[in-house]
Amino acid sequence: MEEGVHGEEFPRAPLFHSYLMGYAGEELQDNHWQTIDEVRTEASVCCRCNLCYTRTNVVFGCGAVPSRLMVVGEGPGAEEDKEATPFVGRAGRLLDQIFLKSGIRREDMWITNIVRCRPTAKEGETVRNRAPRSPEITACNIWMEQEYRFVSPSVVICLGAVPAQALIGRGFRIGEGRGALHNGRRGIPTTATYHPAYVLRLRGPDRARIEGLMIKDFRMAAEHMAAEGTQK
Ligand code: URA
Repeated sequence: MEEGVHGEEFPRAPLFHSYLMGYAGEELQDNHWQTIDEVRTEASVCCRCNLCYTRTNVVFGCGAVPSRLMVVGEGPGAEEDKEATPFVGRAGRLLDQIFLKSGIRREDMWITNIVRCRPTAKEGETVRNRAPRSPEITACNIWMEQEYRFVSPSVVICLGAVPAQALIGRGFRIGEGRGALHNGRRGIPTTATYHPAYVLRLRGPDRARIEGLMIKDFRMAAEHMAAEGTQK
């Protein structure tokens, strides 16, 4: 038995550390799925980590496939868990305003999370969001890899340090690394900016300043995409 995030006891979830292992333990080929919709369907019943016991829905990425831009958040919150769509809650609404000000359209990108089930912690009777843990990120990697494969982005933007540490490097810090493109997963230019949930906790001039930096970071990524487009 394993102890869950709420202190409950769960049977051990099937957690395959090998990247391409099927539910019966057979080895899968990287081209096991032919379309992103096939991946989404299989991910919707995923049981690769203990988050499957507390989620309502698997929140798979959504948007354009292929897409030159992929945006990666931390993990779904309560509204995303209910609606099975990433960034539809308060943080998502703020992000939409920032996209608008950056000249980027949500329908032109793929938007996803480093884990696809809501990570929660219980404080008394209150259930709150928490950051995903490393075994959860590892377990969810099979879906991240398939999103990379089908979306085939030319730029990736991570929201916050958690996805940045998974996709750029373990020691990545937003304060030091934001605003520049790094060599990310699969060699794809990858940057990171602040997470909108962090911005929602700020007030006054601090909030305006950080929002301004986020807009700058998105514009920098958009300029890189535009320059790449003219070279192709
Ligand atoms: N925060 C995230 O990181 N992802 C979501 O989908 C919503 C809020």
